[in-house]
Amino acid sequence: MIWSSTLCIRLSVLALLFAFSAAAAVEDGELINGDFETPPTGGFSSEPGISDGPVTIPGWKTNGTVEAVESGEKQGGMILIVPEGAHAVRLGNDAEISQEVAVEKGALYSVTFSAARTCAQLEALNVSVPPASQTIDLQTLYSVQGWDSYAWAFQAAEENAKVVFRNPGMEDDPTCGPIIDDIAIKKLFVPDRPKDNAVVNGDFEEGPWMFRNESLGVLLPTNLDEETSALPGWIVESNRAVRYIDYYHFSVPGGKRAVELLSGKEGIISQMVETKPNKPYRLTFSLGQAGDACKQPLAVMAFAGDQAQNIHYTPNSNSTFQTANVNFTARADRTRVAFYSVYYNTRTDDMSSLCGPVVDDVRVELSGSSMVRFGGLGLILLLCCQLLVLVLV
Ligand SMILES: *[C@@H]1O[C@H](CO)[C@@H](O)[C@H](O)[C@H]1NC(C)=O
Ligand SMILES: *[C@@H]1O[C@H](CO)[C@@H](O)[C@H](O)[C@H]1NC(C)=O
Ligand SMILES: *[C@@H]1O[C@H](CO)[C@@H](O)[C@H](O)[C@H]1NC(C)=O
Ligand SMILES: *[C@@H]1O[C@H](CO)[C@@H](O)[C@H](O)[C@H]1NC(C)=O
Ligand SMILES: *[C@@H]1O[C@H](CO)[C@@H](O)[C@H](O)[C@H]1NC(C)=O
Repeated sequence: MIWSSTLCIRLSVLALLFAFSAAAAVEDGELINGDFETPPTGGFSSEPGISDGPVTIPGWKTNGTVEAVESGEKQGGMILIVPEGAHAVRLGNDAEISQEVAVEKGALYSVTFSAARTCAQLEALNVSVPPASQTIDLQTLYSVQGWDSYAWAFQAAEENAKVVFRNPGMEDDPTCGPIIDDIAIKKLFVPDRPKDNAVVNGDFEEGPWMFRNESLGVLLPTNLDEETSALPGWIVESNRAVRYIDYYHFSVPGGKRAVELLSGKEGIISQMVETKPNKPYRLTFSLGQAGDACKQPLAVMAFAGDQAQNIHYTPNSNSTFQTANVNFTARADRTRVAFYSVYYNTRTDDMSSLCGPVVDDVRVELSGSSMVRFGGLGLILLLCCQLLVLVLV
C-alpha cells in the first residue's frame, strides 16, 4: 500500500515535470491567434482604416499601421485576399507585428506563414527573430489564388524568441502593404546521415510546418545557410523558391513529403555530401509529377560531382514517378548534388500557377563495391551473434 502510494506520487511528480517541460517550449503548430481569427475586445471593426487608433490584435504586439482585414473587403475596387478563414492582418509602411515564444536555446525552428500582396509593386516582408532575419520577396506570385505560404528557419539564440513580421516598404499609399495569415512554428531536427547513403534528409520527410488544410504547399525561398535551413540538409541556392509538398494534396513518390521544382534554373536545391575522392558513386532519386495538372513535359537537370544530366519524366498511367540515376566519380571529399527544373511549367487548369517536376528519395551510394561491403558486414555480424550464443550457452 505504502509502496504503491509512493509510486503513485512519484508518477504524478514525473507527469507534472513532463507537463511542465512540455509547456516550457512552444509546441509545434499555429502561434497564438496565428490565423488572426480571434476577435479583438469590442469585435472586429467592420470598417478598418477609418479609425486611426491603434488596433489590438489578440496575442500580438503591433507597431505602426497594422489593420485587421476581412475576406471580401474591397480596396480601390480590388478585393483583398485573405489566405485562410475570414481574417488576416495587413502591415502598413514600416509596420510590424510580433509575438514572443518560449523556445529551446540552440535548437532549430522553422516559421511558416501565408502572405499576399496588395497594391504595391515591390512588396516584401522582413521576418525575423533577432538577430536572425530574412527579407522575403513577395513579387513573384506562385499560385493563382493570390497568396502563398512560405517557410523560414532560425536557430534560437535565447530561450525566448520574438517572432517579428515587418513591412520594410515605404509606399506613397500607406494602406498598401502585405497581408499575412496562418503563422505556425515547428522545431526542426536534422536527421542522421543514413549508413549507406551520403544524403541527409534525402526523403525530405523533415521540414517546416504545413497546415493539414492548406493545399498550396509551402514555398522555401532562397537560403544559402545550410545550418539554418527550413529543409534540413538542403539549401535553396536560387533567387526563386522551390515548393515543399505533402501527400494530402499532391502526388508524392515516397513518405509524406517531397519537393516540387519551380521556375526552371531559378529554383535550385542542393546539398554538399561527403564522398571519398576518386571513388565511383551513384546518385539515385525519384522523379515524378505532383498531380497538380502541370503542363508536360517535365524534366530535371541533376548534378552530381563532375556529371550533369538532363532527365525527362515519362508519363506512365501506372505510376506518378520513376527512378532515375546518375553515375559519377567523386573529385573531393565533398560533392555537390543539385537539381533544377529544365522547363518553366505552369498548370494547365489556370495557366498561371507555377509547377514542375517532383524530386524525392535522393540517395548517393558508393557504386560497385557496396554489395561486397554489406555482404562482408552481414557475415561479420552473423559470426559475432553465433559467438555470443556459444558464450551464453
Ligand atoms: C516602433 O517602430 C519605430 C520605428 O521603427 C521605433 O522607433 C519604435 O521604437 C518602435 N516602438 C516600439 C514600442 O517598439
Ligand atoms: C485550418 O486549420 C487550422 C488549424 O489547424 C484552423 O485554425 C483553420 O481555421 C483551418 N482553416 C480552414 C479554412 O478550415
Ligand atoms: C529585417 O529586420 C531585422 C530586425 O528588425 C533587421 O535587423 C534587418 O536589418 C532587417 N532587414 C532588412 C533587409 O530590412
Ligand atoms: C500498366 O500496368 C499494366 C498491368 O500491370 C501493364 O500491362 C501496362 O503495360 C502498364 N502500363 C505502362 C504504361 O507501364
Ligand atoms: C549507372 O551504372 C549502373 C551499373 O553500375 C547501370 O546499371 C546504370 O544504368 C548506370 N546509369 C546511367 C544513367 O548510366
